[in-house]
Amino acid sequence: MDRNKDLLERREASKLGGGEKRIERQHSQGKLTARERVTLLLDEGSFNEIGQFVEHRSTSFGLEKNKVPGDGVVTGFGTIHGRLVYVFSQDFTVLGGSLSETHAAKICTVMDMAMKNGAPLIGLNDSGGARIQEGVVSLAGYADIFFRNTRASGVIPQISVIMGPCAGGAVYSPALTDFVVMVEDTSYMFVTGPNVVKTVTHEEVTSEDLGGAKAHAEKSGVNHFTAGNDVEALKEVRDLLTYMPQNANELAPSPSIFEFNKSKLETIKGVLPDNNLLPYDIRKVVECVIDDNSFREVHEDFAKNIVVGFARVEGRTIGVVANQPMALAGVLDINSSRKGGRFVRFCDAFNIPLLVFEDVPGFLPGTDQEWNGIISNGAKLLYAFSEATVPRITVITRKAYGGAFDVMNSKSIGADLNFAWPTAEIAVMGAKGAAEIIFKHEISGADDPEAKWLEKEAEYAEMFANPYRAAERGIIDDVILPEETRAKVIAGFKMLENKAEVLPKKKHGNIPL
Ligand code: HXC
Repeated sequence: MDRNKDLLERREASKLGGGEKRIERQHSQGKLTARERVTLLLDEGSFNEIGQFVEHRSTSFGLEKNKVPGDGVVTGFGTIHGRLVYVFSQDFTVLGGSLSETHAAKICTVMDMAMKNGAPLIGLNDSGGARIQEGVVSLAGYADIFFRNTRASGVIPQISVIMGPCAGGAVYSPALTDFVVMVEDTSYMFVTGPNVVKTVTHEEVTSEDLGGAKAHAEKSGVNHFTAGNDVEALKEVRDLLTYMPQNANELAPSPSIFEFNKSKLETIKGVLPDNNLLPYDIRKVVECVIDDNSFREVHEDFAKNIVVGFARVEGRTIGVVANQPMALAGVLDINSSRKGGRFVRFCDAFNIPLLVFEDVPGFLPGTDQEWNGIISNGAKLLYAFSEATVPRITVITRKAYGGAFDVMNSKSIGADLNFAWPTAEIAVMGAKGAAEIIFKHEISGADDPEAKWLEKEAEYAEMFANPYRAAERGIIDDVILPEETRAKVIAGFKMLENKAEVLPKKKHGNIPL
């Protein structure tokens, strides 16, 4: 026997996965195969496979006659933009990409390697879930993965791409990772599918409506990035990784070449409307401060009243958190607090400085918010900022009212620098409401209560609807012109480059989950 030829034949057999017919089916559904995806994800020719010849050991239900080398998951390492990453890619053409004991063990092997060697892990998910014929060992396999996802959290970046079914307990691996990318129309995630939903709650819902990319991007917030197809999803991951360090002990790469169009220093002067009740797009302010075309928004379709994303200033990665006056006037509510808190914690875990833009009228009132826990959810954002030790700068563009002022990276909760524009209004509450409360008796006793109210409102606004009361007390560090913001931010982050703050020794904190 020609042993070399035998090896090559074995390799070819493994590459065929579940066979031509199933590959054709995969393609006809607009999906790429597991190997095609790995090839597109990684730098050309950089993939090194591990475990290509692993086979399952099950003998139940005739499975001993249905073995495919690799057992339905392609695992290994390679590079993205020249940097090491580990990857697993489930192969739906092999028993529906279902997770067997050995399939799970292969995934765990690359997870362990990623942890040991300090490099990101990317999971390409396309699976019918636990391999039904194997029973409990496959459930244990899932648990092995969940455990490692949790242990790796905050140590290496973990990204999940959902490129097909992801149902039942299988959803919890992506949920434990840092970022989820879903492909429109061909992927879905749910704990229980439409049939179970119908039986239990009598609701009729399609897979797409229940757990498609759009549902999770807009309603649940499980999905951070929606891609039009497999190719776009993989490009998204490649781009996203350029903003991240390899692990929690490193800094994100910092390209020395960057561009900044100076005309943006003019543009920024005119972003805020003259009338302080009118909305504007905070992303325009962000764009005028950061390097050109460097903003990578995260969670774009979820809780639009807060904008979060990665950006660069003079080439260095930063995390941006900004109230968005265009949606719900930029109030903080349950979802925006969850969204902001999660992003802040990722940045802090991976040494990414935070830049906050603040224009917040307060927290959203209402029974819906109170009964669903705006107290503990709002506290998540407060907690996330308070425990963050990375360099932290805030720019107050307009409103900074009430508890929301404290929450949005105020100096008292550990921010390093707080700047305010001359248009900033920093107060306990808006002038109208404040006047109604503190001048109640004067207003009700006046001949013309309406006129009195207006007069007192103006008095309060004159006193507090500006940044100078806060500046007098050192609650903000400086009042700056909009066009000075970029220079102040650059100087601030440079000054903070060697910041070394250590949290009190503890096992871990108890964030209000
Ligand atoms: C074994 C499976 C499988 C599974 C699919 N297949 N899922 N084999 N275990 N879980 C096989 C099919 O038998 C079929 O084999 C091939 O994969 C393709 O499946 P199809 O049904 O033909 O594909 P499609 O019509 O696209 O439907 C995909 C699907 C469906 C919706 C995912 O296959 C499905 O409902 N599968 C079962 C899902 C499920 O209940 N999984 C267990 C969940 S419990 P052939 O030979 O015909 O190609 C779970 C618990 C995890 O995951 C708990 C962790 C804590």
